[in-house]
Amino acid sequence: MSERLRIALTKGRLQDQSVELFEAMGLDCSPVRNPGRRLIHALPNYPLDAVLAKAPDVITYVEHGVCDLGVVGKDTILEKGGAFYEVLDLGFGRCRFALAVKRGSDFYGTYKTRRVASKYPGVTRAFFEGKGMDVDIIKIEGSVELAPILDLADGIVDIVETGATLKENGLEPIEDVAQVSARLIVNTASMKLYKNEITDFLSRVERELGGHT
Ligand code: PRP
Repeated sequence: MSERLRIALTKGRLQDQSVELFEAMGLDCSPVRNPGRRLIHALPNYPLDAVLAKAPDVITYVEHGVCDLGVVGKDTILEKGGAFYEVLDLGFGRCRFALAVKRGSDFYGTYKTRRVASKYPGVTRAFFEGKGMDVDIIKIEGSVELAPILDLADGIVDIVETGATLKENGLEPIEDVAQVSARLIVNTASMKLYKNEITDFLSRVERELGGHT
């Protein structure tokens, strides 16, 4: 008997692109497109139930095995870590982490300890540890671009997609920190317990990605 798998999708942009991918694979995603007040969406023509969640919660659900699969950005994986299999780069949601500073400022040209603001303190710490550089990291919850403008920090580590936000705020990227895109993750126990079901799903995803990349 085939088990129904449960997948957690990151709400927002990645949700829309996940749905487009699944529809291209022939999955009827109308329950996800018209969710109403329901929180679990059973796909009518494939044994898959979808839940929508914030990115860090996608990892939590998959780690705990309440969802077998998840779609989440590499940014969240790098920041939060966790025990799960990262099986596929889905190719969408592409952007990068970059170190950015006020245009023209010389971030590396001083011996003072630099202050760096970020929504991603773990990624920021790992980046500067990799350089053997001691920096003070300030955690900011949103609009991190404000930190250098207000002279709270010498630089920021943030997501850059088009670069427009940096440009409009008089900042410039000076170094890439990591590349980011959406990843498909799998619970480690589910991979063994539902091997056939997960293999079927993964091969459908791979076939679809292969046809378009
Ligand atoms: C991200 C990031 C930047 C912006 C960069 O924020 O924090 O502010 O996108 O995009 P750009 O290079 O195309 O201008 P997002 O819109 O994801 O919102 P968030 O602040 O809620 O993370």
